[in-house]
Amino acid sequence: MLELFACAQPYWDPNGLILAQDEESGRIAGFVHAGFAPNLEQSALEYSNGTICGLMVHPDFRRRSIGQELVRRAEEYLRSKGAKSVVAGGGLEQNAFYTGIYGGLDPSGFCASAAAWPQFFQKCGYDACDEALILRRDLIRSRDPVNAKLLRLRRHLKLVITDRPTNESWWWFVRYGQLDSLRFELHEKGTESVVASGQIIGMDLYIPKWGVRSVGIREIFVPESQRRHGYAQALLLEICRRLKEESVELVESHVLPGDQRALDLFKSARFEVAGRLLTFRRWL
Ligand SMILES: CC(C)(COP(=O)(O)OP(=O)(O)OC[C@H]1O[C@@H](n2cnc3c(N)ncnc32)[C@H](O)[C@@H]1OP(=O)(O)O)[C@@H](O)C(=O)NCCC(=O)NCCS
Repeated sequence: MLELFACAQPYWDPNGLILAQDEESGRIAGFVHAGFAPNLEQSALEYSNGTICGLMVHPDFRRRSIGQELVRRAEEYLRSKGAKSVVAGGGLEQNAFYTGIYGGLDPSGFCASAAAWPQFFQKCGYDACDEALILRRDLIRSRDPVNAKLLRLRRHLKLVITDRPTNESWWWFVRYGQLDSLRFELHEKGTESVVASGQIIGMDLYIPKWGVRSVGIREIFVPESQRRHGYAQALLLEICRRLKEESVELVESHVLPGDQRALDLFKSARFEVAGRLLTFRRWL
């Protein structure tokens, strides 16, 4: 998995992966992995925006300043490549490595529950930056909302599932290209116009750890002229229904806490906040 989701990336640079090794025992005490965020067009890396994609110190070696030293060395590497700032944790859709194997749908930050990140990064001279909320729906236990509007929409709309997404950026392909993906569209019966669309990403690599089949949902989109008709909620519910039929038990999406529209939408489709992914920034 590491080979596929880190070392095989086209921008993989061995100098960005820094290990701490105990001289006496030879054991690996920790690692830090530094990379870069994409440019605005998502067509290449933006070397002025450094990221720390992974950081871990083995429990036997904690509280000996190894974490701090790893961060310092990651900064040194990033600066040498042109970075003006570092975002530890990367941020929503900003991490070059570990998509599909850390953080759920997207390694949008460091899991708040995994470590004392705020205290640690404060000590390293970082400020708290964005966080991403992990929204989840348990498809086995939760029930769909029922109301007349949703029933009416179901009569007028049909779900069309298309194969792999096509008009995606280079950044999409390097991160999600190794994973299963499908595009879902809600079409108006008769006119066949698309009133809502979204994408799912398979998260099968978490099965051994989580014990359930899970899928990530992203890029829910409703054209401007079709908004406020309940199409996004209808699409989300329809996706959930189809996934449940395919034995998927858990669906997940990542949303910024300030994105109230997205939060309300997912809440209306019975998603709940399941965790937080944190990031921290430092100007170099
Ligand atoms: C966060 C982590 C990297 C810290 O590594 P570390 O080598 O123990 O950190 P340091 O010894 O350099 O600590 C530096 C400072 O951070 C703060 N800190 C670190 N761990 C802390 C804790 N558990 N509680 C409170 N503060 C803490 C302290 O201010 C500490 O300074 P001090 O020891 O002088 O008080 C380590 O706890 C870890 O690997 N946790 C799990 C990470 C993980 O899940 N990674 C997956 C995402 S890639």
